[in-house]
Amino acid sequence: MKIVVAICGASGVVLGKRLVEFLKTKENRDKYEVHLIISEAAKEIAGFEETDLSAARKLADYSYDEDDMSAGIASSSYGVDAMTVLPCSMKTLSAIANGLCDNLINRAAENVMKTGRLLVVSPRDTPLSLAALENMAKLKGDGALIVPPVMAYYYKPRTIDDVNDFFVGKVLDCLRIEHDLYNKWGKEK
Ligand SMILES: Cc1cc2nc3c(=O)[nH]c(=O)nc-3n(C[C@H](O)[C@H](O)[C@H](O)COP(=O)(O)O)c2cc1C
Repeated sequence: MKIVVAICGASGVVLGKRLVEFLKTKENRDKYEVHLIISEAAKEIAGFEETDLSAARKLADYSYDEDDMSAGIASSSYGVDAMTVLPCSMKTLSAIANGLCDNLINRAAENVMKTGRLLVVSPRDTPLSLAALENMAKLKGDGALIVPPVMAYYYKPRTIDDVNDFFVGKVLDCLRIEHDLYNKWGKEK
């Protein structure tokens, strides 16, 4: 499965990193061809949040900067199976919803949507503006899945890692990828 993971400049860049780690575990590494795009803003926020994204870059099969418009995934003919934007800023949410295609993240997302593949977007902001809500509705109408990192308590998280794994697990559920990152209701971990 060819999967694009885009990490944008929203709080929680660690979530994108955790997703890449999961997709490239020993068990998974041959199953998923991971294309990682890290936006310039995400790099800056990684510094503020003390999250080192270099390990994710090394784990990914391919790693790009946002302005790398000559990358294979900038073309829909590359044949990506799915893409997730985790976390997604309101800026990138707007760019994707409105077909801006001004960087590799927006362009890859456009390709995934126009070829009817799976796009999973995790917008992170609170409170939400009308523009953000409308952009989410637009994307949902175009077939994307909107999966904001929203907390739940029923699975009894104890640590921040548990919370992060819940958010990443929800994205994996939408990508239809099996995982054991959180206790699903009615199932033991
Ligand atoms: C410390 C910090 C945290 C931020 N957190 C968010 C956030 O949670 N959500 C958001 O939409 N924008 C957030 N921003 C603003 C975005 O980083 C900014 O709009 C940026 O242009 C997004 O670019 P990108 O989507 O290309 O990564 C934050 C900025 C900083 C400096």
